[in-house]
Amino acid sequence: MYKPSKTILTAGPSISSLELKYVMDAAKNGWNEEYDKYLQKFSEAFAKYIGVKYAWPTSSGTGALHSGLMAMGIGKGDEVIVPEITFVASANVVEYVGAKPVFVDVEKDVWTIDPKDVEKKITKRTKAIMPVHIYGNVSDMDPINKLAKKFGLKVIEDACPSIGAEYKGKRTGNLSDVAAFSFQGAKIMVTGEGGMLVTNNADIYEKAKYWGNNAKHKTKAFWNDDIGYMYRMSNLLAALGLGQLERNDTFVTKKRKIFSWYKKRLGDIEGISMNVEKEGTKSIYWMSSIVLDKNFGFSRDELMMKLKEKKIDTRPFFYPLSMFTMWKEQKTPNAHHVGLNGINLPSGVNLKEEQIDYICNILRSILLS
Ligand SMILES: Cc1ncc(COP(=O)(O)O)c(C=O)c1O
Repeated sequence: MYKPSKTILTAGPSISSLELKYVMDAAKNGWNEEYDKYLQKFSEAFAKYIGVKYAWPTSSGTGALHSGLMAMGIGKGDEVIVPEITFVASANVVEYVGAKPVFVDVEKDVWTIDPKDVEKKITKRTKAIMPVHIYGNVSDMDPINKLAKKFGLKVIEDACPSIGAEYKGKRTGNLSDVAAFSFQGAKIMVTGEGGMLVTNNADIYEKAKYWGNNAKHKTKAFWNDDIGYMYRMSNLLAALGLGQLERNDTFVTKKRKIFSWYKKRLGDIEGISMNVEKEGTKSIYWMSSIVLDKNFGFSRDELMMKLKEKKIDTRPFFYPLSMFTMWKEQKTPNAHHVGLNGINLPSGVNLKEEQIDYICNILRSILLS
């Protein structure tokens, strides 16, 4: 019987000799004439992978989201619709540009933006909708894009946790005006910190690069007409990213396998729900997760403590953003249920079936006792 010698973590990357080869090359030779060799290769390969025309590597997913909003001209007095369950950065970037994040509820089963609630929250000030492909689950994009068309709004996908996920045969990031991905260290593919802005729109691409690269003048060196931001990725990180991208499909397969191992062992437990893959979508199950839907006699946080004692690391779901003092008046019901009762289980791409077996045996003994 497997017993962990150290804590089983929620995430963790797989780094092979391929990535090391590219990074070594970038460290040794990636200067002067070759200063952007890997940045170019990474952006071209990433654009091809997602199926979009343009990709710009950034220093974070947050930077890509912020640059995307600026490129679309979202600013003071505008409203951007954001699901209430997401990482805080999705709402922060709306504030960065002086606009207001307006929260809508999530669908109770998939935990992604609820298009019905979106329609209710559209006002004269609404300029954009930001669906978030939370934990690798895919948002229902057709009704969102339909609403955007009807009301003349932009759509920006927060695709940070969904590299390789699909909606009706298209990859996430290729379903909107502009999208952002993250390669932060817990993501499916990593560069430590890092991100990518993708779009099919040449104007958005050029403007995002302008705002995210210190608003540099196109032709006149060291001349500026605007205050910009510094969101460029480094060539060294692009080398790591390129190697990771070339292996991302194997990571997606592994993440899907990990979820199937959990589902087989936990799927019959009454009172919990797990990630849902809606018809026509392909989730990457960035985080295999459970939500406690009934009162088990202990709280979500107590369950996490019990698991920790057994060397199982977990993460709470993102808190509903209206719990934060910055946005406290905008409470939505499903977001509160999911956000306060959800747990991300260990989901790193290096996990083995015997570890999932161990985790599920412990979970079953706690939840069914
Ligand atoms: C949903 C979501 N949005 C935005 C981000 C921000 O990405 P980053 O940490 O690369 O800035 C993350 C990842 O951390 C995320 O999960």
